[in-house]
Amino acid sequence: MTERNTSTDSPEKRTAGIAAAGLVSSGMLVGLGTGSTVAYTIKELGRRVREEGLDILGVVTSYQSEMLAIEAGIRLTTLAQHPELDLAIDGADQIDSELRAIKGGGAAHTREKIVSVSAKRFVVTVDESKTSKQLDKLVPVEVLPFAKEPVVKKIRELGGKPQLRSAVKKDGPVITDNGNFVLDVEFGVIKEPEALALQLSSIPGVVGHGIFCNVDELYIGNKDGSVKVITRQK
Ligand code: A5P
Repeated sequence: MTERNTSTDSPEKRTAGIAAAGLVSSGMLVGLGTGSTVAYTIKELGRRVREEGLDILGVVTSYQSEMLAIEAGIRLTTLAQHPELDLAIDGADQIDSELRAIKGGGAAHTREKIVSVSAKRFVVTVDESKTSKQLDKLVPVEVLPFAKEPVVKKIRELGGKPQLRSAVKKDGPVITDNGNFVLDVEFGVIKEPEALALQLSSIPGVVGHGIFCNVDELYIGNKDGSVKVITRQK
């Protein structure tokens, strides 16, 4: 088990985030993920809007990406107005060689998943420290506060060790952008991410979990400044 690596910044994140922005062209509806890597994507898209006249509409996944996108000058829309997106770009906390990812270090995974499955193409952009042979990081699970204890019990029955995520600079638990709690669950090495994803989704009171099995393409920023692209085999 390794700890989550959420908000540390690095040149590799910048390389990866900016490279993924290159996938965006005028006329696109783009899902804008959350976190420090995709923040570079959003800033780069804003630069292209201002300097190159890039004409896009973004759909945000959190207050963080909303604030960044507004600051960058990216026009925004909603899934209510545009339920089908051309592309979604997001970061990840860990991703394996079969492009299965753990997300939610920033507690935005529920909206991130909704946006990612609304896109024709879902691209994840990470620095190389996020890649792994297998998934073994904590799995964030957003839970309705009313259902916390029953969900904790069900997760324990699945073999997980849940811990309520505590806030920083606020007493008590983290409250998500949707008004819910987050459980960080230790499962050890996750041998069958797809199966665990289904099991977690079927627990009443679970609003969303951080296992993503729908990544189409992975951009990896390396220390030498290069970017490796891996595409899911269909
Ligand atoms: C937000 O809740 C997460 O899913 C982020 O996308 C993920 O934690 C990656 O964040 P960084 O790019 O900051 O590492």
